[in-house]
Amino acid sequence: MRLDKFLAEASVGTRKDVRNYIKEGKVKVNDEVIIKAYLEIDENKDVITYLDDVVMHSGRVYYMFNKPAGYITARKDEFSKTVFDFFHEENSEGIFHVGRLDKDTEGLLLFTNDGDFNNNLMCPEKHVKKRYFFIALGFLDETKINLLESGISIGEDEDITKPAKLDNVECKDYGYFNETTNVSKFYSMEPSRYDAPVVSGYLTISEGRKHQVKRMLKAAGCYVIYLKRISIGDLSLDETLEMGQYRALTENEINSVLRKS
Ligand code: URA
Repeated sequence: MRLDKFLAEASVGTRKDVRNYIKEGKVKVNDEVIIKAYLEIDENKDVITYLDDVVMHSGRVYYMFNKPAGYITARKDEFSKTVFDFFHEENSEGIFHVGRLDKDTEGLLLFTNDGDFNNNLMCPEKHVKKRYFFIALGFLDETKINLLESGISIGEDEDITKPAKLDNVECKDYGYFNETTNVSKFYSMEPSRYDAPVVSGYLTISEGRKHQVKRMLKAAGCYVIYLKRISIGDLSLDETLEMGQYRALTENEINSVLRKS
Protein backbone atom coordinates (compact mmCIF):
# COMPACT_ATOMS: atom_id res chain seq x y z
CA MET A 1 0.00 0.00 0.00
CA ARG A 2 1.17 3.56 -0.68
CA LEU A 3 2.46 5.43 2.35
CA ASP A 4 0.02 8.37 1.95
CA LYS A 5 -2.95 6.03 1.59
CA PHE A 6 -1.89 4.11 4.72
CA LEU A 7 -1.64 7.32 6.76
CA ALA A 8 -4.94 8.74 5.49
CA GLU A 9 -6.78 5.47 6.14
CA ALA A 10 -5.31 5.39 9.64
CA SER A 11 -6.92 8.86 10.11
CA VAL A 12 -3.65 10.75 10.57
CA GLY A 13 -5.16 13.36 8.22
CA THR A 14 -6.66 13.84 4.80
CA ARG A 15 -4.69 12.60 1.79
CA LYS A 16 -3.53 16.21 1.26
CA ASP A 17 -2.58 16.67 4.95
CA VAL A 18 -0.54 13.49 5.09
CA ARG A 19 1.36 14.34 1.91
CA ASN A 20 2.39 17.59 3.59
CA TYR A 21 3.41 15.75 6.78
CA ILE A 22 5.55 13.42 4.67
CA LYS A 23 7.17 16.37 2.86
CA GLU A 24 7.84 18.04 6.20
CA GLY A 25 9.80 14.98 7.39
CA LYS A 26 7.29 14.03 10.10
CA VAL A 27 6.88 10.46 8.92
CA LYS A 28 9.32 7.58 9.34
CA VAL A 29 9.28 4.09 7.91
CA ASN A 30 11.37 1.67 9.96
CA ASP A 31 13.09 4.61 11.68
CA GLU A 32 14.03 6.36 8.46
CA VAL A 33 12.49 9.70 7.43
CA ILE A 34 10.70 9.20 4.13
CA ILE A 35 9.66 12.08 1.91
CA LYS A 36 8.04 10.09 -0.89
CA ALA A 37 4.28 9.93 -0.46
CA TYR A 38 4.04 7.21 -3.09
CA LEU A 39 6.47 4.83 -1.37
CA GLU A 40 5.03 1.30 -1.29
CA ILE A 41 5.03 -0.06 2.25
CA ASP A 42 4.14 -3.43 3.69
CA GLU A 43 1.53 -2.57 6.31
CA ASN A 44 1.99 -5.97 7.99
CA LYS A 45 5.74 -5.66 8.45
CA ASP A 46 6.91 -2.05 8.25
CA VAL A 47 6.74 0.23 11.29
CA ILE A 48 5.32 3.62 10.36
CA THR A 49 5.55 6.57 12.74
CA TYR A 50 4.11 10.07 12.63
CA LEU A 51 5.94 12.51 14.93
CA ASP A 52 7.56 9.39 16.42
CA ASP A 53 4.25 7.80 17.42
CA VAL A 54 3.56 4.43 15.84
CA VAL A 55 0.61 4.62 13.45
CA MET A 56 -1.83 1.70 13.76
CA HIS A 57 -3.95 0.65 10.80
CA SER A 58 -6.86 -1.62 11.64
CA GLY A 59 -7.78 -2.45 8.06
CA ARG A 60 -11.08 -0.73 8.71
CA VAL A 61 -11.83 2.32 6.59
CA TYR A 62 -14.38 5.09 7.03
CA TYR A 63 -15.17 7.86 4.56
CA MET A 64 -17.41 10.88 4.55
CA PHE A 65 -18.68 11.81 1.06
CA ASN A 66 -20.50 14.92 -0.16
CA LYS A 67 -22.98 13.41 -2.59
CA PRO A 68 -24.08 15.47 -5.59
CA ALA A 69 -27.56 15.11 -7.10
CA GLY A 70 -27.82 12.84 -10.14
CA TYR A 71 -26.00 9.79 -8.75
CA ILE A 72 -27.56 6.55 -7.52
CA THR A 73 -26.51 5.13 -4.15
CA ALA A 74 -25.39 1.74 -5.43
CA ARG A 75 -22.14 0.14 -6.53
CA LYS A 76 -23.31 -0.32 -10.12
CA ASP A 77 -26.30 0.65 -12.18
CA GLU A 78 -27.19 -0.25 -15.71
CA PHE A 79 -28.53 3.19 -16.60
CA SER A 80 -27.16 5.76 -14.19
CA LYS A 81 -23.92 7.03 -12.73
CA THR A 82 -23.36 5.92 -9.14
CA VAL A 83 -21.70 7.31 -6.02
CA PHE A 84 -18.84 4.81 -6.49
CA ASP A 85 -17.83 6.66 -9.66
CA PHE A 86 -16.18 9.20 -7.34
CA PHE A 87 -13.96 6.72 -5.48
CA HIS A 88 -10.44 5.87 -6.53
CA GLU A 89 -10.37 2.18 -7.24
CA GLU A 90 -7.80 1.51 -4.53
CA ASN A 91 -10.11 3.09 -1.91
CA SER A 92 -13.37 1.47 -2.96
CA GLU A 93 -12.43 -2.18 -2.54
CA GLY A 94 -14.62 -3.90 0.05
CA ILE A 95 -16.45 -0.74 1.15
CA PHE A 96 -20.20 -0.16 1.14
CA HIS A 97 -22.46 2.84 1.66
CA VAL A 98 -24.05 3.36 5.07
CA GLY A 99 -27.73 3.79 4.22
CA ARG A 100 -28.87 5.52 1.06
CA LEU A 101 -29.75 8.88 -0.39
CA ASP A 102 -32.17 9.30 -3.31
CA LYS A 103 -30.69 10.07 -6.70
CA ASP A 104 -31.69 13.74 -6.45
CA THR A 105 -30.64 14.16 -2.79
CA GLU A 106 -27.30 15.76 -1.92
CA GLY A 107 -25.07 15.77 1.12
CA LEU A 108 -23.64 13.46 3.74
CA LEU A 109 -23.16 9.83 2.79
CA LEU A 110 -20.82 7.54 4.72
CA PHE A 111 -18.84 4.56 3.46
CA THR A 112 -17.04 1.85 5.41
CA ASN A 113 -16.03 -1.80 5.45
CA ASP A 114 -16.95 -2.06 9.16
CA GLY A 115 -20.28 -3.80 9.84
CA ASP A 116 -20.44 -2.57 13.47
CA PHE A 117 -20.09 1.04 12.38
CA ASN A 118 -22.87 0.54 9.84
CA ASN A 119 -25.06 -1.17 12.43
CA ASN A 120 -24.58 1.56 15.02
CA LEU A 121 -25.88 4.14 12.58
CA MET A 122 -28.51 2.20 10.65
CA CYS A 123 -30.08 -0.24 13.09
CA PRO A 124 -33.66 1.09 13.64
CA GLU A 125 -33.48 0.38 17.40
CA LYS A 126 -30.61 2.87 17.76
CA HIS A 127 -32.86 5.80 16.69
CA VAL A 128 -29.93 7.73 15.24
CA LYS A 129 -30.95 11.28 14.27
CA LYS A 130 -30.54 12.39 10.66
CA ARG A 131 -30.85 16.06 9.82
CA TYR A 132 -31.92 17.32 6.39
CA PHE A 133 -32.19 20.75 4.82
CA PHE A 134 -35.17 20.98 2.46
CA ILE A 135 -36.83 23.43 0.11
CA ALA A 136 -40.40 22.55 -0.89
CA LEU A 137 -43.28 24.01 -2.87
CA GLY A 138 -46.07 24.84 -0.42
CA PHE A 139 -46.11 26.27 3.06
CA LEU A 140 -45.98 25.07 6.65
CA ASP A 141 -48.12 26.65 9.36
CA GLU A 142 -48.16 25.81 13.05
CA THR A 143 -50.73 23.02 12.63
CA LYS A 144 -48.69 21.28 9.95
CA ILE A 145 -45.45 21.75 11.89
CA ASN A 146 -47.04 20.19 14.97
CA LEU A 147 -48.28 17.27 12.91
CA LEU A 148 -44.88 16.68 11.31
CA GLU A 149 -43.19 16.84 14.70
CA SER A 150 -45.62 14.64 16.60
CA GLY A 151 -46.18 12.00 13.89
CA ILE A 152 -47.85 11.98 10.50
CA SER A 153 -49.34 9.26 8.32
CA ILE A 154 -47.23 8.70 5.20
CA GLY A 155 -48.76 5.47 3.88
CA GLU A 156 -51.91 3.45 4.31
CA ASP A 157 -50.30 0.35 5.79
CA GLU A 158 -47.61 2.16 7.73
CA ASP A 159 -47.31 3.39 11.30
CA ILE A 160 -47.35 7.13 11.72
CA THR A 161 -43.86 8.60 11.81
CA LYS A 162 -41.88 8.82 15.06
CA PRO A 163 -41.41 12.24 16.70
CA ALA A 164 -39.35 14.56 14.51
CA LYS A 165 -38.04 18.12 14.82
CA LEU A 166 -38.35 21.07 12.47
CA ASP A 167 -36.24 24.19 12.83
CA ASN A 168 -35.45 27.39 10.96
CA VAL A 169 -38.65 27.12 8.91
CA GLU A 170 -38.88 29.96 6.42
CA CYS A 171 -42.00 30.55 4.30
CA LYS A 172 -41.46 32.86 1.28
CA ASP A 173 -42.20 32.59 -2.43
CA TYR A 174 -40.43 30.86 -5.32
CA GLY A 175 -38.95 34.15 -6.60
CA TYR A 176 -37.18 34.70 -3.26
CA PHE A 177 -35.62 31.22 -3.22
CA ASN A 178 -34.75 31.35 -6.90
CA GLU A 179 -32.71 34.49 -6.26
CA THR A 180 -31.10 33.58 -2.93
CA THR A 181 -30.59 29.80 -3.03
CA ASN A 182 -27.09 28.72 -3.87
CA VAL A 183 -27.54 25.29 -5.47
CA SER A 184 -26.18 24.20 -8.82
CA LYS A 185 -29.45 23.24 -10.56
CA PHE A 186 -32.42 24.80 -8.84
CA TYR A 187 -35.96 23.66 -9.71
CA SER A 188 -37.19 25.76 -12.60
CA MET A 189 -40.57 27.56 -12.81
CA GLU A 190 -42.23 30.00 -15.20
CA PRO A 191 -41.73 33.63 -14.08
CA SER A 192 -45.52 33.95 -13.90
CA ARG A 193 -45.42 31.51 -10.96
CA TYR A 194 -42.66 33.23 -8.98
CA ASP A 195 -45.21 34.19 -6.32
CA ALA A 196 -45.97 30.51 -5.54
CA PRO A 197 -45.42 29.70 -1.84
CA VAL A 198 -42.14 27.91 -1.07
CA VAL A 199 -40.86 26.80 2.32
CA SER A 200 -37.39 25.82 3.56
CA GLY A 201 -36.19 24.39 6.84
CA TYR A 202 -34.39 21.61 8.63
CA LEU A 203 -36.12 18.35 9.44
CA THR A 204 -34.53 15.90 11.88
CA ILE A 205 -35.85 12.34 11.92
CA SER A 206 -34.78 9.22 13.76
CA GLU A 207 -36.09 6.64 11.29
CA GLY A 208 -34.92 5.70 7.81
CA ARG A 209 -37.96 4.78 5.77
CA LYS A 210 -37.79 5.03 2.00
CA HIS A 211 -38.13 8.65 0.75
CA GLN A 212 -39.17 9.53 4.29
CA VAL A 213 -38.52 13.27 4.25
CA LYS A 214 -40.25 13.73 0.90
CA ARG A 215 -43.20 11.61 2.00
CA MET A 216 -43.56 13.42 5.33
CA LEU A 217 -43.58 16.81 3.66
CA LYS A 218 -45.93 15.55 0.95
CA ALA A 219 -48.35 14.40 3.67
CA ALA A 220 -48.21 18.01 4.94
CA GLY A 221 -49.04 19.33 1.46
CA CYS A 222 -45.47 20.23 0.38
CA TYR A 223 -43.47 19.00 -2.61
CA VAL A 224 -39.72 18.76 -2.00
CA ILE A 225 -37.64 20.41 -4.73
CA TYR A 226 -34.27 20.32 -2.95
CA LEU A 227 -32.95 17.98 -0.25
CA LYS A 228 -29.56 17.73 1.43
CA ARG A 229 -28.48 15.58 4.37
CA ILE A 230 -26.54 17.64 6.89
CA SER A 231 -25.76 15.14 9.66
CA ILE A 232 -26.14 11.60 10.92
CA GLY A 233 -25.89 11.28 14.71
CA ASP A 234 -22.83 13.25 15.84
CA LEU A 235 -21.31 13.30 12.33
CA SER A 236 -21.87 16.49 10.35
CA LEU A 237 -21.06 17.02 6.71
CA ASP A 238 -17.66 18.69 6.41
CA GLU A 239 -18.64 21.80 4.42
CA THR A 240 -15.09 22.13 3.08
CA LEU A 241 -15.71 18.98 1.02
CA GLU A 242 -16.70 19.97 -2.47
CA MET A 243 -19.56 18.15 -4.14
CA GLY A 244 -18.30 14.69 -5.12
CA GLN A 245 -15.31 14.78 -2.75
CA TYR A 246 -14.67 12.38 0.10
CA ARG A 247 -12.25 12.14 3.00
CA ALA A 248 -11.36 9.63 5.72
CA LEU A 249 -13.14 10.18 9.03
CA THR A 250 -10.94 11.36 11.88
CA GLU A 251 -10.31 9.11 14.87
CA ASN A 252 -12.70 11.23 16.99
CA GLU A 253 -15.43 10.96 14.37
CA ILE A 254 -15.01 7.17 14.15
CA ASN A 255 -15.02 6.79 17.93
CA SER A 256 -18.12 8.96 18.30
CA VAL A 257 -19.98 6.24 16.37
CA LEU A 258 -18.23 3.10 17.65
CA ARG A 259 -18.51 4.13 21.31
CA LYS A 260 -22.28 3.84 20.94
CA SER A 261 -22.16 0.01 20.66
N1 URA B 1 -35.59 11.16 2.75
C1 URA B 1 -35.88 11.28 1.44
O1 URA B 1 -37.02 11.52 1.07
N2 URA B 1 -34.87 11.13 0.56
C2 URA B 1 -33.58 10.90 0.92
O2 URA B 1 -32.72 10.79 0.06
C3 URA B 1 -33.31 10.78 2.28
C4 URA B 1 -34.33 10.92 3.19
